Amino acid sequence: MRPLLGCLALATLLSPSLACPSPCSCSTKKNGRLLAECAYRELRDVPRGLSPNVTILTLSANRLGRLSRASLADVPELQSLWLGYNHIAAVEPGTFAALPQLKNLDLSHNRLADFPWQDLRNLSALQILKLSNNRLAGLPRGALHGLRELRSLWLNDNELTTLAPGTFEALPALAQLQLFHNPFNCSCKLFWLKEWADSTSAVISRAGSTLCAAPARLRGRAVTDIPGGLCNGTMAIPGFGKEDEGTYTCLAVNDVGTRDVSVNVALAGSGNPAEELPRDDPHAGQPGGHSCAKGDELDPSGMGEKLVIVYHVAGEARSGAAAAAGPRIRVGILLALGLLLLGW
Ligand SMILES: *[C@@H]1O[C@H](CO)[C@@H](O)[C@H](O)[C@H]1NC(C)=O
Ligand SMILES: *[C@@H]1O[C@H](CO)[C@@H](O)[C@H](O)[C@H]1NC(C)=O
Ligand SMILES: *[C@@H]1O[C@H](CO)[C@@H](O)[C@H](O)[C@H]1NC(C)=O
Ligand SMILES: *[C@@H]1O[C@H](CO)[C@@H](O)[C@H](O)[C@H]1NC(C)=O
Repeated sequence: MRPLLGCLALATLLSPSLACPSPCSCSTKKNGRLLAECAYRELRDVPRGLSPNVTILTLSANRLGRLSRASLADVPELQSLWLGYNHIAAVEPGTFAALPQLKNLDLSHNRLADFPWQDLRNLSALQILKLSNNRLAGLPRGALHGLRELRSLWLNDNELTTLAPGTFEALPALAQLQLFHNPFNCSCKLFWLKEWADSTSAVISRAGSTLCAAPARLRGRAVTDIPGGLCNGTMAIPGFGKEDEGTYTCLAVNDVGTRDVSVNVALAGSGNPAEELPRDDPHAGQPGGHSCAKGDELDPSGMGEKLVIVYHVAGEARSGAAAAAGPRIRVGILLALGLLLLGW
């Protein structure tokens, strides 16, 4: 017994590459990669003393609460890091940046309200990023830029209400994206996502469960089905008729300043699309600061880009009360202008 223990101790001393902290079990895979298996151990911290040659580290289903730069400093060669089903609420910036070989990072089922996004800039080999089932409320603009190998991105079951335009651009390898179960606010600010979804070759898993939570009118509707009418300068004006077409000159005031704008308002459709259009955005409800007048003068610089297409909403309103229709049309145009001037 004693000589055997001695041999084991000697072997451990002589081959630090096989150093394996007691809660883990380590093995060399067929491809020569060193795996440290430390899942389901009730660990509160990443074990110290892992071999620097470990390339696969499983720490899933433990009780890790926080990761610091020091946590993974022993294992700079990591390619796969499995941290799912822990209690991780905080990750110190720089923790993952020191793992340039990382291909797979699983942080799903944790408590992250924030993530050190800037670390991703160092992870150019990253292929799989799982951040699902956390508490993320947003991604900074450009957070994922440069992840040229990223194939699979899981952001489902978080608290995302919106995403910046272009969030998923510059991800040439992206094949699968999960966004379902987030409380998306389907305002025009998110309309780009629908357009991107329509054009991307990536599979958006469970798109039918990727729903709007706001505005109330669109609650429960798929994000990939956001009606974009108002988002490109088209809008519904109740009671609008052919005879209301023309040029309207408006004075509009927003944060940037005051502008005189002429819009050419034309009838583009009929039926009842008003239900579909996101016309209750709060900005649209604030015509204060704007005033419009119908006229023949057209500001030449304002032509073209300021075209507002209006749907005719069939209804009794028009036939019954021509006098009442005037103010309503005016308000509608004010709303359209407000949006145009806000850059929507
Ligand atoms: C890591 O692996 C390399 C090559 O397989 C080997 O030469 C080296 O000794 C190992 N390093 C340690 C610290 O075990
Ligand atoms: C991350 O990348 C930057 C730029 O390439 C580099 O300066 C920095 O040292 C890297 N960070 C780590 C922790 O390796
Ligand atoms: C939805 O987004 C719009 C536009 O950014 C914003 O004004 C509104 O407050 C948001 N609604 C909710 C419920 O977050
Ligand atoms: C605006 O968007 C609607 C709905 O997506 C579309 O039918 C319409 O042609 C667009 N109008 C312009 C001017 O792009």
